[in-house]
Amino acid sequence: MFRNLISNASLAMLLALSLGACDGKTSNDETQASTTNPSASTDQASLPLTVHKSVTCSCCSLWVAHLESQGLVVNTKNTSDLLAVKSQHEISPQLASCHTAVSADGYVFEGHIPARYIHQFLASPPEGARGLAVPGMPVGSPGMEMGDRFTPYQVWQMNSDGSQTVFATIDTFAQQHIEDQ
Ligand code: CU
Ligand code: CU
Repeated sequence: MFRNLISNASLAMLLALSLGACDGKTSNDETQASTTNPSASTDQASLPLTVHKSVTCSCCSLWVAHLESQGLVVNTKNTSDLLAVKSQHEISPQLASCHTAVSADGYVFEGHIPARYIHQFLASPPEGARGLAVPGMPVGSPGMEMGDRFTPYQVWQMNSDGSQTVFATIDTFAQQHIEDQ
């Protein structure tokens, strides 16, 4: 159904724009397949997130480092076909960013979402929600730090019925890291 709702051409264009904003440095990390078989007793945040990203996009790696510093377990998977990943996980072009993370139980986290909101979501997934998204690449979001520059943005909740609602409004840089040790 999703494939009919959006034009793949427009998604490709958006991805090209997003990726164009990456600095093009080549990352050295290679694909790491997830081999974890989480037990039912493990708490949500300790289950692995698989991050689909481009090998040439360093802001994705910086975001992964941010997640890991905040206690999330991350497998990275480099791909040259992010368009297929966005399509598979039904990320609308309006919500798309440079990387797509998928939790062990199938929730989707698109873009430069601060780890604290992923923790919050996984601790108690809202009724009808299938994930979160930060569209584009807001300056000053985790992995997109540029000195003290900061652009306010919203974290969107993607719902199973295809709608989206505001999960969090990020007005300050500090708000993103309020739970940092
Ligand atoms: Cu990015
Ligand atoms: Cu990225």
